[in-house]
Amino acid sequence: MSKKLLLKDAHIEGIRHYDVYRKQGGYDAVEKALAMTPDAIVEEVKTSGLRGRGGAGFPTGMKWSFLAKPEGIPRYLVVNADESEPGTFKDRYLMEFIPHLLIEGMIISSFALGANTAYIYIRGEYAWIPEILEQAIDEAKAAGFLGKNILGKGYDLEIYVQRGAGAYICGEETALLESLEGKRGNPRLKPPFPAVKGLWESPTVVNNVETIAAVVPIINITGAEYAKIGVGRSTGTKLISACGNINKPGVYEIDMTITVEEFIYSEEYCGGIPNGKKLKACIPGGSSVPIVPANLLLKTINGEPRYMNYESLADGGFATGTMMGSGGFIVLDEDQCIVKHTMSLAHFYAHESCGQCTPCREGTPWMYKILKNIETGKGTMADIDLLWDIQRKIEGNTICPLGDAAAWPVAAAIRHFRDEFEWHIDNPEALTRNYGLAGYADPIP
Ligand code: NAI
Ligand code: SF4
Repeated sequence: MSKKLLLKDAHIEGIRHYDVYRKQGGYDAVEKALAMTPDAIVEEVKTSGLRGRGGAGFPTGMKWSFLAKPEGIPRYLVVNADESEPGTFKDRYLMEFIPHLLIEGMIISSFALGANTAYIYIRGEYAWIPEILEQAIDEAKAAGFLGKNILGKGYDLEIYVQRGAGAYICGEETALLESLEGKRGNPRLKPPFPAVKGLWESPTVVNNVETIAAVVPIINITGAEYAKIGVGRSTGTKLISACGNINKPGVYEIDMTITVEEFIYSEEYCGGIPNGKKLKACIPGGSSVPIVPANLLLKTINGEPRYMNYESLADGGFATGTMMGSGGFIVLDEDQCIVKHTMSLAHFYAHESCGQCTPCREGTPWMYKILKNIETGKGTMADIDLLWDIQRKIEGNTICPLGDAAAWPVAAAIRHFRDEFEWHIDNPEALTRNYGLAGYADPIP
């Protein structure tokens, strides 16, 4: 059984409230951290090997140590709670059921970074969660863990919750900062990174909800002990939101030593595939990461089992591997159509493109239109090569990673399931799905 660090108390009745959370040892880590120096906390996080849990897996301690510290300029911590990646809902679970863990992590992290103001930017669709967070903030403040002179240590911190308005792109850190400043959520060119020039041009650390929550157990058990959990550079525990064709969809905390097979089939996690169907493919890290067919999912190219961790999932690089990403684990059984699935994702990215760069603005709807043609029996063999060409021209040629995120699923689908594309083109009469008539809403003409 995987070790639990983040969700170990999530089942306790009333844990959403300060009194119950405190009885379980909540806020002990703040007391410990405020007796340390900020630099010592950053060192603990570095030692822990914690990597960003939003998708990129960037080392958190390193990101913190990049934070510029010019005299007289405020610094900010911004928590990215704009969890919009299709298939990803682990931060929602954490904020909804154990909000004080996030608030506690924010206090420790803000102290370590020298920030006196911190924000939680939360996606608009999580309409009921800001209230839960605001209540937790009020309770923490009433208990002396927020506001002026926290625990009499001379440290001040205010936390604010800002609701987004439902744009996927606002989960990209610089678009999020633009939105937080009250502007349209257009990504900025990087560098400069937010650590140097972030919110209102001040040095800013943007971290995912789960990343900041993980700082609490790191301080409680020490970075060295945290680093012993997991394997290699995949230290600690990871929340995985599992969905699709599985018996037990939900949020699971794993220690990154289990195999993909165990995760899908064991009763402790997904509980297998309904109706004894076979596994076809899986997208292990949210919709942006490459889809992997079952044969490569259960084993690596070296014949080793594939593990639920950053290195093993990427084994063989993008040509055969995929990414841990945000931990949004989507399972497809043998009945699922890869062309339809890819078309649906292409539609999503075309709809969410902010339109700033030509390859993404023009390429994403173009890919969707071609995929729709293939899916509805109007495709040609040349379309497959055209699709491949378009995705190649988007990848790496845009301001933000949304372009890559739109290109990778198309590339991986063609690479691993070209025969399905060809079958659609060869057998248009067999395609019985009735788009345009059967209630299929298509906002992109
Ligand atoms: P990135 O690799 O560009 O950056 C990772 C983090 O490290 C950023 O905070 C960046 O500011 C920081 N960083 C990198 N180099 C730095 C340097 N030299 N100095 C200072 N800071 C530096 O990745 P990005 O754009 O933040 O995230 C892309 C990932 O997000 C994708 O892998 C995707 O899986 C994931 N994603 C997650 C979503 C979600 O809802 N959780 C939604 C969409 C994408
Ligand atoms: Fe906007 Fe797409 Fe360019 Fe990102 S890649 S800045 S979403 S147009």
